[in-house]
Amino acid sequence: MGLNVGVVGATGAVGRNMLSILNERNVNIKSLRCFASERTAGHLLEWKGKEITVELLTEEVMKESFDYLLFSAGGSVSEKYAAIAAEAGNTVIDNSSTWRMKEGIPLVVPEVNPHVLKNYKGIIANPNCSTIQMVVALAPLQQKYGIKRIVVSTYQAVSGSGHKAIVELGNQLNDPDSIPKVYPKRIAGNCLPHIDVFNENGYTKEELKMVYETQKILEDDTIEVNATTVRVPVFYSHSESVTVTFHRKPDLNEARELLIQAPGVVVMDDPANLEYPTPLMAAGKDDTFVGRLRSDLFDPFTLSMWVVSDNLRKGAATNAVQILEKIEEQKL
Ligand code: A2P
Repeated sequence: MGLNVGVVGATGAVGRNMLSILNERNVNIKSLRCFASERTAGHLLEWKGKEITVELLTEEVMKESFDYLLFSAGGSVSEKYAAIAAEAGNTVIDNSSTWRMKEGIPLVVPEVNPHVLKNYKGIIANPNCSTIQMVVALAPLQQKYGIKRIVVSTYQAVSGSGHKAIVELGNQLNDPDSIPKVYPKRIAGNCLPHIDVFNENGYTKEELKMVYETQKILEDDTIEVNATTVRVPVFYSHSESVTVTFHRKPDLNEARELLIQAPGVVVMDDPANLEYPTPLMAAGKDDTFVGRLRSDLFDPFTLSMWVVSDNLRKGAATNAVQILEKIEEQKL
């Protein structure tokens, strides 16, 4: 017994993490197949000491039978091939933004809303990386105090733009004259308040993802979210400054205790001893780290915190694998 799993986009930054995480978490796999474009079809990937040949993604292959297909090959690939795979009866866990806001498609963070997976078959959407870590930290507080409004600023790593962006930052750090290709401006030594395209209302698509995905996952479309998303010259892990106003007055110590008890959250909050999360420290880990928890100086209904998590792992690959695990667990 074991699962037939396919990873679409297996040679990319998230896809490679999916392969490692399936191995690390010892998912019971009978057959693992890897798919990508012509660029890398035929390449070999190592998995559990064996070599897997990367296969070209085609419509025919998506119609074959899989227990799970994990997609991370961009929106247009998901739009076409995830639909074909689901139509053929396969369960797809998709990391792109294509399906997230579609009616009837579950948008899942297993620590927060696993109930939406019950008895579901088809396409399941993995949320945006910045949204995932924020809702992991906010869900326990939402349950207790009810969230009215969130103001969030992000400090997002270049790995969120894929492998080519990791290479671009590396090149720019070594060569000040290196021409930007992935980003519109130099990223080394810089901050770009521009992730994904600008919408006519002045917000970027990334910022709007944080608004609507948060409302969908927390199942409350009255939650107000004001997001500013910023790309920073960090390789791995996104950081977020989150200020949240509640309907009921929070108690700081109780909120801290709720976060300590929350699944997937690690509280690192002892500024006097220089204990607070940083992206370097969070990289390669699966938890969401929370620090700098404090009460607003003026509004007793408002708390602020600093939230850090590895965007390729909990923000993408780990969350996708946890969805698979949760579905399997619910079958027992
Ligand atoms: P490939 O490496 O063959 O181009 P990243 O986010 O790091 O840029 O990775 C994107 C992933 O999506 C890679 O594995 C890439 O494969 C894959 N990919 C991109 N476009 C396609 C496509 N049209 N068909 C299949 N896989 C694709």
